[in-house]
Amino acid sequence: MTSASIKIAPSILSADFAALADAIARVEAGGADQIHVDVMDGHFVPNISVGTPVVEAIRRRTRLPLDLHLMITDPERYLNPTTPACALDYAVDGADLVLVMSVNPGFGGQAFIPATYAKLIDLKNRLGERPLEVSIDGGVKLEHCRALVLRGATTLVAGSGIFADPNPAAAVRRYREAAVTAASV
Ligand code: DX5
Ligand code: ZN
Repeated sequence: MTSASIKIAPSILSADFAALADAIARVEAGGADQIHVDVMDGHFVPNISVGTPVVEAIRRRTRLPLDLHLMITDPERYLNPTTPACALDYAVDGADLVLVMSVNPGFGGQAFIPATYAKLIDLKNRLGERPLEVSIDGGVKLEHCRALVLRGATTLVAGSGIFADPNPAAAVRRYREAAVTAASV
């Protein structure tokens, strides 16, 4: 893996929803690769976040790709902490991204589930040489980046780890540095 292939995706669930444009501008200035947007319907997870109008408004404020995380009934892609990697066996062909949840979805600011590391190794074995993005979402803090990248993560989603920092742009840079250092091993 080349270090350039690691992507940092700030999750705006931890940003100030009344000042989203400003939050996005800050992480964009820090070199974020994508903006992670959590869409929650109150059914698939016990929380309601944003829907189409907000996503459209965000779309107009940034040129970065939007990483839409659909925590809604009938999502097109999801992998919750208790979903085994073998659930992908008959679905992986045709997919271009696997999202591995490292918390039970619904809320930002939860603690990272360490069993994610073992699942990543299982996943890597199952994916073989397929060129899929492997995105990790939930509780990802700076100290997890290295181990995640070494186990095959290519996208790191971080909400509170970036937006709880007084300087979200600098936080994005620190995540990238940790990821890039690991990827260049
Ligand atoms: C949780 C969301 C995450 C969340 C991440 O259901 O999918 O994207 O915003 O936030 P942190 O990094 O604080 O767990
Ligand atoms: Zn998410």
